[in-house]
Amino acid sequence: MTLAEKIGQMNQLFSFEFQKPEDKDESIRKGEIGSLLFVTNPALINRFQKIAVTESRLKIPLIFGFDVIHGFHTIFPIPIGMAASWDPKMIERVQTMAAREARSVGINWTFAPMVDIARDPRWGRIAEGAGEDPFLGSAIAAAQVRGFQGDRIGAPEHLLACVKHFAGYGAPEGGRDYEAANLSDTQLYNVYLPPYKAAIDAGAGSVMSAYMDLNDIPATGNRWLLQDLLRKEWNFKGFVVSDADAVKNLQTHGFARDAYDAAVKAANAGVNLEMSLFAQTYLKNLANAVTQNQVSVKQIDDLVRPLLEAKIKLGLFENPYVDEAKVKPTFADPGTREMARVAAERSAVLLKNQNSLLPLSKAGYKKIALIGPLAVSKRDTLGSWTFAMDVDQTSTILSGIKNKLGPDTSVEYATGVQISRTLASPFDVFLNQKPAAPWTESESADELQKAVNVAKNSDIAVMVLGENQDMSGEAASRMTLDLPGRQLELLKAVAAAGKPIVLVLMNARPLDISWAEQNIPAILEAWYPGTEGGDAIANLLFGDAVPAGKLPFSWVQTSAQIPFYYSHTLSQEPDRQNQRYWEGKTGPLYRFGYGLSYTTFAYANLKLSQPEIKIGGSVEVSVEVKNTGARAGEEVVQLYIHQQAGSASRPVRELKGFERVSLAAGETKTVRFKLGPNELRYWNAGVRNWIQEAETFDVWVGGDSSTSLQSTFKVIK
Ligand code: NOJ
Repeated sequence: MTLAEKIGQMNQLFSFEFQKPEDKDESIRKGEIGSLLFVTNPALINRFQKIAVTESRLKIPLIFGFDVIHGFHTIFPIPIGMAASWDPKMIERVQTMAAREARSVGINWTFAPMVDIARDPRWGRIAEGAGEDPFLGSAIAAAQVRGFQGDRIGAPEHLLACVKHFAGYGAPEGGRDYEAANLSDTQLYNVYLPPYKAAIDAGAGSVMSAYMDLNDIPATGNRWLLQDLLRKEWNFKGFVVSDADAVKNLQTHGFARDAYDAAVKAANAGVNLEMSLFAQTYLKNLANAVTQNQVSVKQIDDLVRPLLEAKIKLGLFENPYVDEAKVKPTFADPGTREMARVAAERSAVLLKNQNSLLPLSKAGYKKIALIGPLAVSKRDTLGSWTFAMDVDQTSTILSGIKNKLGPDTSVEYATGVQISRTLASPFDVFLNQKPAAPWTESESADELQKAVNVAKNSDIAVMVLGENQDMSGEAASRMTLDLPGRQLELLKAVAAAGKPIVLVLMNARPLDISWAEQNIPAILEAWYPGTEGGDAIANLLFGDAVPAGKLPFSWVQTSAQIPFYYSHTLSQEPDRQNQRYWEGKTGPLYRFGYGLSYTTFAYANLKLSQPEIKIGGSVEVSVEVKNTGARAGEEVVQLYIHQQAGSASRPVRELKGFERVSLAAGETKTVRFKLGPNELRYWNAGVRNWIQEAETFDVWVGGDSSTSLQSTFKVIK
């Protein structure tokens, strides 16, 4: 390979629908492009690929990347929703199916999973991850890698995974997307890095370097992250792609003097592939940098090798093309839609259910009022990071409820309010979409009144409130967690009509629903439930499915409490700890791991296999969980630990085990967990390494992070 051909392999470009494909032909022919992203049309993929493999000198195939985040053609719930299922096996199956659909059009590589821990829900990308906890996040990260990649990179009908955004991107100051993250090493090692390590141990073939500064060094120019940690400490053998334009942006950070310097710094830090919109910093500057001896030929070789290896492993040299005839049957597979429904049902979290208002009896109501724009919005039901689906095929909550009920029940719908953003999102601008024109004052008043009238005229009101799908995701941070627009006003006005209300929430972050928690009898968190969302939610509302999801984050009362996470340390007695705000209690509205069912569970007989273990040894924890209600259900059994003393303050509780179990009415099961060195060690700033200490540990098992069933064991030398 010539130097220019090597550098060409290190260049990845977007190819958008609004661009003319021919514009890239000559560059591909010249070997200047190694990868394209955002092409979803199989004919176009084959067209580009043909130029690469028949007209370029070395005939190296292109690798096609895309954001397959929670589905491709069939959309599954938004990732934070799937995390609420606490069901890694399901998530693995979901991503297997998503991979299959994407692979059928010729995509080889997904920019997922996003494994950034998020402890600040103002940050809109909380939607794309697994929430606040490293243990849950790690299990879900590994499951997604297995789902996308199958048992090896290159498994048929699978994709190469890309774990992102390395690292610390989930901790932007103020929750402002792209903002600097300032994280201590203990936070990094104990909280933010574990899901990355889990994804890499599960075999993830690529890593995306993040946009922001990590402790003042941009992640994309950060040698410590990309070399010392990722390659030397973790033995990562795949490749690193920059986030879009992150190499070019090294200038914006004030880290690189110019584009040339940016290319030099990213290449020497260890970014193998530059993703760019137009900049092509590597392509334009790296040859010069080699001539100037600022980047060595050996470094270029080391950067190119894993890129070529990935193409070899994916089988692209043998099978560069995609069989266009397989797309339709793959998309039409009913199993995928079925999985989308099951995933949406398993992801929902029942937050409140006073006097067992839910499930609703199908024959019990003659007139149901359905209120709120999200109940009929197909686009919103799908959530952010969805581009290649057929929006029309989405089941909305209105259609889901109507499908479920017989002719004797009428469902009357009213919009009630508009949920509008103050500003159009960057994506709207980019995709040339304008937000709907806002209603005038008098239109707003009329629509609100109409909704109240519909409720008055019904036996029960189901209200679907929350955020538009583009209010979370990239560049979609919020200043408050209020129900946007006039939704709270609508909720209060409808509540005043005096009919029972079920509130269904569609959103991807905790919202300030304190008023609803006090005044509305039933609240169901639906997330953005995806293609089959409406049917799934209707199944849950009418008892054909039983909610069992649990919150993957602490649901704060208000944005002013942020950051808040359950695994904090403690410096004052709990009483004092809980009385620090003038306005109210310190804790969240709903705790981490919380979620109700239509049945109830009881825990008993928490047992440890032995009272003491040696450092490095393991203890088995067992507990009996019983379904004490009258119907079958599932419970997420959770295990938390706390190290009572040591050479650092340890969190009051840390999740170290969980299992979702299914129990018939009256049934009891014994659930077992193993606690060994992996669960009991932590990264200690004093010794700057992982340590396990000979100390006493508390262990709790139960249905959420506040469970009281407790025992202790000792670790001895
Ligand atoms: C920018 C986002 O930060 C990243 O998550 C995504 O994969 C790339 N754009 C490509 O769309």
